[in-house]
Amino acid sequence: MVKQAEAAVQFKHLFTPLRIGSFSVRNRILSTAHATGYAQDGLPSQRHLDYWASKARGGIGLIVTEVQPVHPSAGTGLNSIHAYDDACIEPFRKAVEAVHRHGAKIVAQLWHPGRASSWRSFVVRRSLISISLIKLPTLPPPRRRSCRKPSRTPTRRTTGS
Ligand SMILES: Cc1cc2nc3c(=O)[nH]c(=O)nc-3n(C[C@H](O)[C@H](O)[C@H](O)COP(=O)(O)O)c2cc1C
Repeated sequence: MVKQAEAAVQFKHLFTPLRIGSFSVRNRILSTAHATGYAQDGLPSQRHLDYWASKARGGIGLIVTEVQPVHPSAGTGLNSIHAYDDACIEPFRKAVEAVHRHGAKIVAQLWHPGRASSWRSFVVRRSLISISLIKLPTLPPPRRRSCRKPSRTPTRRTTGS
């Protein structure tokens, strides 16, 4: 295995800090967002904390969390983190502290799939929310297809295929 000192010579930018907007990361090594299935009841779990902390302990610069739906209409299950639930704040605070303790940074990947939300979800079937009213040709034919835009103006709905 290549030691960090040797790697720093071989890959001279990899171990140099990087400024991203208002914060800096200690190197250019990052963990890309990936669904873990570790959430419990829609909240970050101890397993998440241990997982992210172990990456930080290993020397990573930045961790990007898995996708976190910002609204129930995203239609995800309880093994994904529900960022719209304030109950997430406390477990996240502990996880972020653990990551920071080991010198790494962590950012949340906030997410909503809009028209591509899963029609298997009861919430989505009842009310699909999308920034655009453009139809998604890849959607399976639902029994009832309706879509609304999250806007302050009166709600518009599309129906039909
Ligand atoms: C199981 C799994 C879950 C993933 N979840 C996400 C995700 O939540 N958000 C995201 O932007 N990318 C996600 N990705 C994509 C990865 O971040 C990455 O871009 C992709 O796997 C390509 O990198 P790789 O060739 O190193 O695997 C996921 C990939 C995998 C395999």
